[in-house]
Amino acid sequence: MKETVEHAVREFAKVYGGEPQWIAAAPGRVNLIGEHTDYNDGFVMPMAIERYTVIAAAPARDAGRITLRSTANHEVFTIELGAALKPLGKGKWANYAVGVVAGFLAYGLRLEGFDALVHSNVPLGGGLSSSAALEVATATLLEAITGHTLVPVDKALLCQKAEHEFAGMPCGIMDQFVSVMGQEDQLLLLDCRTRKTELVPLTDPAVEVLIINTNVKHELTGSEYSARRKQCETAAKALGVVSLRDATLETLEQGRTKMEEVVYRRARHVISEIQRTILAAEGVRTSGWPAVGRLMYASHDSLRDDYEVSCAELDAVVAIARGIGSDGGMIGCRMTGGGFGGCAVALVKKAAVDDIKKKIAAGYKKRTGIEATMFVSRPAAGATVLKA
Ligand code: GLA
Repeated sequence: MKETVEHAVREFAKVYGGEPQWIAAAPGRVNLIGEHTDYNDGFVMPMAIERYTVIAAAPARDAGRITLRSTANHEVFTIELGAALKPLGKGKWANYAVGVVAGFLAYGLRLEGFDALVHSNVPLGGGLSSSAALEVATATLLEAITGHTLVPVDKALLCQKAEHEFAGMPCGIMDQFVSVMGQEDQLLLLDCRTRKTELVPLTDPAVEVLIINTNVKHELTGSEYSARRKQCETAAKALGVVSLRDATLETLEQGRTKMEEVVYRRARHVISEIQRTILAAEGVRTSGWPAVGRLMYASHDSLRDDYEVSCAELDAVVAIARGIGSDGGMIGCRMTGGGFGGCAVALVKKAAVDDIKKKIAAGYKKRTGIEATMFVSRPAAGATVLKA
């Protein structure tokens, strides 16, 4: 994180002059298992990663204005605090930040203008929640500026709302929760119904989390995501339950004729994935790595075949991982996040990391013609104020 912060401070001085008065950072995340279950009241088990979005800020000369700049995008946004805040337009990077500012103002918190600079080493649009990291970093910055600390659950929900209303993405609660509540060396087992969290230690020194970026992004994510959400709601309705959390594979079979085939398959993914997540948490707790690996592969297959959110590039990575196998130090691998590109996550034996990286790089290049990027990360701590 140190380098990212230093870079942000240097860039801040370049564009605004002087030193920032406040600095906040929030991590991206990778989800070990529990995909497309959060908006079905299910379980997820992500961790925060050692990649951060940092925001450096200082009071503005004009107390009525917020200026937002990013090192990743030339577009600069100036927000007038007097008027009601509105989304900036489709696809604008600052929507995530402005949505959070709007959430703070809706709390009745007073805010004066500031100049902010965003710098991030979370790959953008890579399925590692760069957007949640920006939202949570903004909320953390505003906590520093106003001196008003939010209850962690409320903070995560405020950020989720910003994403719904300002970025138009009807996401679940996983990404924002883990960016707020992540802890070093811990997976976060989150019950998305009760919003209760349980820490699952990932401390086996022989095991590493390897993140593999396919470096592709198929532009289906938004529309396909809300289509999946709707199909899940349709399935729950047909089964007469509040959400798919309340269904089992047995009740699904009994109700199979009440829904279209595709809706049935979507539900089968969600219901089985919730079970896999609970089992995987138990596996991690007891270092039952072969079982955890099988659950990760089963999760991938289900996302590919039943939920249909994978893509050729993610499937290629997972096929290569399967080929490496447990003899080669590969425990398990699956796509992670919303899908249609982005990253895969693998659990690997530490002693084999370098070897595995080489094999995946070569195999992926051969199959797709694309260079993958890879890094290992320990589970990291959630958002923090670095200067106030
Ligand atoms: C995206 C959403 C999350 C979650 C995942 C799929 O990352 O933001 O809320 O639904 O997709 O598990």
